[in-house]
Amino acid sequence: MSMHYLTAVVSLILVVAILLIRLASKWGNGRPCKARLLPPGSRGLPLLGETLEFFTAAPTLELLPFLKRRLDRYGPIFVTSLVGEEMIVSLDPAFSARVLQQEERAFQIWYPSSFMRVFGADNIINALGPLHRHIRSLVLRLFGPESLRRALLHDVQSAARDELQSWLHRRQGVEVRAATSRMIFSVTAKKLISHDDAASGGSMWKCFDACTRGLLAFPLCVPGTAFYKCMQGRKNVMRTLKQQLDERRNAAVAIRETVDFFDLVIDEMDRPDSELNENIALDLLFLLLFASHETTSMGLTAILKFLSDNPKALQELTEEHEGYTIPEGSKIMICPSAAHLNTEGTPEPVGGSKDFMAFGGGLRLCVGADFAKLQMATFLHCLVIKYRWEAISGGRMVYYPGLRFPDGFHIRLLVKD
Ligand code: HEM
Repeated sequence: MSMHYLTAVVSLILVVAILLIRLASKWGNGRPCKARLLPPGSRGLPLLGETLEFFTAAPTLELLPFLKRRLDRYGPIFVTSLVGEEMIVSLDPAFSARVLQQEERAFQIWYPSSFMRVFGADNIINALGPLHRHIRSLVLRLFGPESLRRALLHDVQSAARDELQSWLHRRQGVEVRAATSRMIFSVTAKKLISHDDAASGGSMWKCFDACTRGLLAFPLCVPGTAFYKCMQGRKNVMRTLKQQLDERRNAAVAIRETVDFFDLVIDEMDRPDSELNENIALDLLFLLLFASHETTSMGLTAILKFLSDNPKALQELTEEHEGYTIPEGSKIMICPSAAHLNTEGTPEPVGGSKDFMAFGGGLRLCVGADFAKLQMATFLHCLVIKYRWEAISGGRMVYYPGLRFPDGFHIRLLVKD
């Protein structure tokens, strides 16, 4: 199993959820009713629609049973009704790619209102046109290739080394998802808002962890539900961010230096004719703090689980990472066609093909894709060259409807002989 396959499996979980919610479009607007040929499907119960079935946990990593049943019955494009919204669902890669490519032309981004409540109405994921492009370019000043090379690679690598070193002392084992999530969060929280979460007992990470658990849960906001805890998490984080914003803006310009991403956003806001306002800035920081650790840690956990189950893949990965050193200045002739032609057995999916959409596509191509890959690769590098591990317990994966590890995944880390 190649890394591409692993990444694709992990990311599919996200993509499925995202495709579902992206497909509210201008479809058929203005066409006379008679000419409409809507996709087949069912809308379920009044109000509830087919929501309960959608939110049922799935015990395997195959296509969500909710989707599989409809695929068999109606084909890859069908209608349904979820959390009070009628929508068209696409399981057709070519059509899904077209929707992504046609954003702001034939289609316009839309998310369910529960997402907007969690991420805020002024968020980048809801922004359009020049404002959207402006915010993306701002984010890329931190997560783009130049900054990754200049600043983040070093921080990510030392965080991975320190983290793995600390696992060695945990005789009772480590729950990988939470541990990698905290590790990545501590790197990004420092870069984004100069926040040292370990110093405050991990309290901000806990708020985001509640958001992770509640984001794809049934959006019922009453005390005790996962969605309620998620909203409480947002409230606490937003309060801290607002406080920091006020403090920074009130500091005399002469003493305030631009040290982190928050300062950069404030500088941008304070420029004459700036399109950014306080709400946009706060929602952006909230989303980045969330997005920069949540999916990557879930991905890393799934990779470690797959590697635990596939010694051959682990062996290949280790060899790749322990491989030759290429001296600076070497000339390298690359043969990209070998990847396509040299396929023993079944061909594997190749990242970068138009059907590979783990990081979205078109205008919405994940702005943190490079950073996420850097995180995973660096962590795995530090892991496999120096350590081995034993799976202790957990590792069961379910869709709920996003990927979950209900029992966590506990391992014991050992230094290689
Ligand atoms: C394995 C890790 C990751 C996966 C699978 C992933 C996946 C995605 C996908 C599928 C989208 C498109 C959403 C849509 O079409 O509406 C997206 C958007 C986004 N991602 Fe990621 N992501 C990952 C890591 C990250 C990281 C590390 C960051 C931050 C540094 C990040 C920040 C964002 C942002 C800000 C957007 C919105 C972009 C926009 O609206 O223009 N992601 N991500």
